[in-house]
Amino acid sequence: MKVKRILKWSRRALLVALILAFLWGFIAYWASTNDCDRKTALVNPMKAIVYCEYGSPDVLKFEDVEKPVPTDNQVLIKVRAASLNALDVYLIRDTWFGRLIFGLRKPKDTRLGRDVAGQVEAVGKNLAAAGQFKPGDEVFGICRGALAEYACASERALVMKPPSVPFEQAASVPLAGLTALQGLREGKIQPGQKVLINGATGGVGTFAVQIAKSFGAEVTAVCSTRNVELVRSIGADHVIDYTKEDFTKSDQRYDVIFDNVCNHSFSERRRVLTTKGICVLAGMGGAGVKEGQAIGRIAGNLFTARGLSSFTDQKFAQYMTKMSKQDLIMLGDLIQAGKLRPVIERTYKLSDAADALRYLDKGHARGKVVIAVE
Ligand SMILES: NC(=O)c1ccc[n+]([C@@H]2O[C@H](COP(=O)([O-])OP(=O)(O)OC[C@H]3O[C@@H](n4cnc5c(N)ncnc54)[C@H](OP(=O)(O)O)[C@@H]3O)[C@@H](O)[C@H]2O)c1
Repeated sequence: MKVKRILKWSRRALLVALILAFLWGFIAYWASTNDCDRKTALVNPMKAIVYCEYGSPDVLKFEDVEKPVPTDNQVLIKVRAASLNALDVYLIRDTWFGRLIFGLRKPKDTRLGRDVAGQVEAVGKNLAAAGQFKPGDEVFGICRGALAEYACASERALVMKPPSVPFEQAASVPLAGLTALQGLREGKIQPGQKVLINGATGGVGTFAVQIAKSFGAEVTAVCSTRNVELVRSIGADHVIDYTKEDFTKSDQRYDVIFDNVCNHSFSERRRVLTTKGICVLAGMGGAGVKEGQAIGRIAGNLFTARGLSSFTDQKFAQYMTKMSKQDLIMLGDLIQAGKLRPVIERTYKLSDAADALRYLDKGHARGKVVIAVE
């Protein structure tokens, strides 16, 4: 009798919980909106790229929006150049995963672009007091909404641009350059080591090849036929054309695999690692990777490669790129010294940013796609 009553009440509690969860989901869905529908007059208009809905690059609009105002710890930048990353494609894509993070019904943040280079226009109160940046300084770094005439960035995410480095080159560096540098450090790269870079000709790969060379490594680059000459020109010692040869089937062994694609299994990559080799799981194949493929590769990385590597001497390392002023200054100095050459395949105008993202979305950009802001 007592058990029957408990079962009855548990069923009721479960039903109430389900109804509440459904209501919460419904309210959260309709409440998650953005500022696109607000039609108040603009006080200080500027041009920017905005996206009000999820979708393909066709959802990008070139519009007048309110010029941002820096907080006490921010810098207002007059943007001279920005660059696109695979991240920008993932942000606008309509995926259930993206909706859970960036807004259920509509994207909460409607501004796009992370990598920025430009001139300081105004400095927040606290930074001005500390004398950190001043109007006119030329800077580069990471912010939100770089695809605009003006953007605000935290002081922690900005460094001075080396004077001889053009704005377009500086803007091509932050996310891709930091990802390459920090990933190679995850691989504990040493001079003389054999390093393989899978996905060597995209934004991250072109930096990774050159940075690995500057560490004194012997670099093998994996790319498609049309990019063989490009990777040679930036210093790769050996090139594997993935349309003709599978690097996991060769007899060569590598101390570090820097994997931008992760399109091989755990055991295939172990086969070509040295006994204490490290495979750095940097990415999933760039802007062109489709949702199903990406989820499969993330799951493979997390549950198989990373998990099983705790039982072997060969390691599979995963990492998230972190903003580091020191690293960004180092990359800027390498460019200034002529030891690192950003590969910029195409430069678009701000008004043509949708075309630029459409190009990146195809998944075969060579190096970086840059937006020059007049
Ligand atoms: N870990 C982090 O915190 C972090 C930070 C930033 C970026 N990432 C990730 O890093 C990855 C690379 O980013 P990206 O900006 O370099 O992307 P990207 O510019 O779109 O480049 C992707 C590259 O992948 C190559 N590729 C595609 N299929 C390939 C295959 N089967 N074998 C070898 N290469 C292949 C393409 O070369 P071809 O044209 O020759 O095919 C292209 O050059 C992305 O997945 C991104 O999400 C990770």
